[in-house]
Parts: sequence; C-alpha cells; structure tokens
Amino acid sequence: MIILSTILLAILAILILVLIYSFIVGIIFGAPYLPTMNDQRQTALELLDLKPGQTLFDLGCGDGRMLKAAAQKGLNAVGYELSPLLAFLAWINNWHYRRQVEVRWGNYWRADLTDADGIYVFLLTKYMVKFDGLVKSKAKKGVKVASYTFKIPGKKPAAQANAVHLYKY
Ligand SMILES: C[S@@+](CC[C@H](N)C(=O)[O-])C[C@H]1O[C@@H](n2cnc3c(N)ncnc32)[C@H](O)[C@@H]1O
Repeated sequence: MIILSTILLAILAILILVLIYSFIVGIIFGAPYLPTMNDQRQTALELLDLKPGQTLFDLGCGDGRMLKAAAQKGLNAVGYELSPLLAFLAWINNWHYRRQVEVRWGNYWRADLTDADGIYVFLLTKYMVKFDGLVKSKAKKGVKVASYTFKIPGKKPAAQANAVHLYKY
C-alpha cells in the first residue's frame, strides 16, 4: 500500500513538473498555452481557404485541436509544439487522422516551413515581427497566414474576421 501511494505520488509530482515546465517554456520561447476557440478555428480555416491535400502548419499547436479541425476538412496538417506534454496530447488527439497529421515536438523558430500552404498562429504581439521574418525566410512564396488576435506590424491583412487576420506572402 505504501509503495503504491509512493508511486502514485511520484507520477503526480512528475505530471505537475511537466505542466510547470510546459508553461514556463511557452512563456520564454513563444506564447503560453491558451487554445483557440472553435468559432475562431473555423474562421481561420475559412479565411485560409486551403484545398484538400494542401498543408496547414500550426506553430505552437498546443493539444492539436487546430490540426484536427484541418484534418477533418481533408487537409494535411503539421504542428510544432515545444511542450512535451502538449505535443503528446496533440499526437493522441490526432491518432485517428495520423495519415494526415504530423506533430513535431520542437521549436517553431527552427521550423522547416517549405511544405506549408497555410500557417496558423496564436502568438503574442512581441513575437509578430520575428514571425514575419520567419515566414519570409522559411516559407514558400504565396503562403497564406492566419493569425488569431495579433496583427503583423506593417503588413496589410488580406482579410479579417472574428479577430483572425489573414495575410498573403
Ligand atoms: C496560445 S497557444 C496556441 C495553441 C494552439 N495553436 C491553438 O490555437 O489552440 C501557444 C502554444 O505555443 C507553444 N509554444 C510556445 N513557444 C513555442 C516554440 N518556440 N516552439 C513551439 N511551440 C511553442 C506553447 O506551448 C503553446 O502550446
């Protein structure tokens, strides 16, 4: 009985540490975890207007709900996520769509964006200039970007709805 409670306590402690770690790395390297609501997810997908077979990248994919929504529309989806716990959750959440969805546990500032037809982000104001540079240097010409809440300074949105801003590069 004592051994069992010790094991359970250890598991709980590890989970709490992973959660704290996930939150802290999110704040240090990008945005902390906060999921996009379903309405805004659908708006972003509508604005991006990708066709089945095209690929959407979610940079900082959290628990993978945007990847799943994209896969349900017939898109391929790639998610980058720094937190190991959230990356694992995203992978589990998209198990059913595993042929369309890839979850990459890693830093989106080092992402390979060459396959992206569309990119979705929910970051923070202070990262939008850096993000603009990332898209210009790593993504192909013509890529579409949907940013929830935060605008790209100095760039005119091609469309806006429901607090989602669409940009074309
Ligand atoms: C605001 S949440 C958005 C989650 C998801 N895109 C959504 O809209 O539901 C931002 C996510 O980015 C992740 N993140 C922050 N910095 C990152 C980085 N440099 N590389 C990869 N993921 C990062 C955080 O862990 C968090 O899950």
